[in-house]
Amino acid sequence: MVSGKRILLIVAGGIAAYKTLDLIRRLRERGAAVTPVMTQAAERFVTPLSVSALAGEAVHRDLFDLTREAEMGHIQLSRSADLVVVAPATANLMAKMAGGLADDLASTLLLATDTPVLLAPAMNVRMWTHPATRRNLGVLQSDGIRVVGPNEGDMACGEYGPGRMAEVPEILSAIEAALGAGPLAGRRIVVTSGPTHEPIDPVRYIANRSSGAQGTALARALATLGAEVVFVTGPAAVPPPQGVEIVRVETAREMLAAVEAALPADAAVCAAAVADWHVANAADQKMKKDGSGRAPVLDFAENPDILARIARRAEDRPRLVVGFAAETHDVVAHAEAKRARKGCDWIVANDVSPATGIMGGAENEVTLITGSGAEAWPRLSKDEVAQRLARRIAEALA
Ligand code: CTP
Repeated sequence: MVSGKRILLIVAGGIAAYKTLDLIRRLRERGAAVTPVMTQAAERFVTPLSVSALAGEAVHRDLFDLTREAEMGHIQLSRSADLVVVAPATANLMAKMAGGLADDLASTLLLATDTPVLLAPAMNVRMWTHPATRRNLGVLQSDGIRVVGPNEGDMACGEYGPGRMAEVPEILSAIEAALGAGPLAGRRIVVTSGPTHEPIDPVRYIANRSSGAQGTALARALATLGAEVVFVTGPAAVPPPQGVEIVRVETAREMLAAVEAALPADAAVCAAAVADWHVANAADQKMKKDGSGRAPVLDFAENPDILARIARRAEDRPRLVVGFAAETHDVVAHAEAKRARKGCDWIVANDVSPATGIMGGAENEVTLITGSGAEAWPRLSKDEVAQRLARRIAEALA
């Protein structure tokens, strides 16, 4: 799907540059042309010879290479591609881009280009989480620059956290999506995520411990495959994904309204941990102790079941409706029953007994229940579960 496309690939200086060599091979295998550019620092990590041998084209390295300027000026070079990919994108190059600096070939190309740009950041975790990098990332995203990764994991420097460059298959998917060529291009998918907050009075609410991590990872994976994602999220602990339409809600009733407003869609995935009840006698003003020593009595009313409502829509039911089921025992039997009861097509079931460490953890072990059986997946990171599920959704909608 990237066949016949030209990628201007800028390699900046980071350990992750070794993965870029494989990225070049995979792009070439898929029929893309790769014009490589390296920063001076990149040459400390991989050699221009390896890069040009794999790309099958000479590496552009110098802003003031006059012979090449005569053949192809940097302005033309920056605009001759269908997509500019920066992998790895370092903190320094991102800072230069955010500030509009142009003091070497890579930064000049990035300033001169009118072609879409995709960054695959890679850096030490402290550098990634530094307020300056956060700020620069925000600027770049509001400039319309796409970003894939970084992932969380062990880093070459010995630390652990976000900062590892996305893996090659993820970068390839992001390239396809940026070129409008991903398997979910043209598909609209609604994803619910996070907990809901159900008010007791203006300052108090009832909530649950959902972090929103799995729903966020899933929305990101679907967007990476090219889907137009509407991400309806309760107040989650993790930041929302990039490249999706974000609708923030608090209560289950608001979530239902937001999901209904987002229809029609090709698929709906309900990953939110929706409160089953709301407080029917929530107070308009802050509840005060009345001095009697008596505690207030809360009346509960059942919340709408968003998943069941969407699955039962007559006119505009999404073609694929997917729910989640968190169980602590007889996982498959309970999830099968839930699939039938709610009328959805698939259920992603997981065992959340405390011994599994899944709730609040980085990993998940799920069983995918479709109309044609139950598939137990191995224990994977939440990102990997999301990527697998996104691929399955793409197959189902193909
Ligand atoms: N769900 C929803 N709206 C609700 C409750 C649940 O959309 N009001 C969705 C969740 O997003 C999830 C699925 O339904 O996809 C499973 O919800 P769960 O709370 O596990 O199921 P329940 O129907 O509450 O069943 P039980 O409490 O018996 O486990």
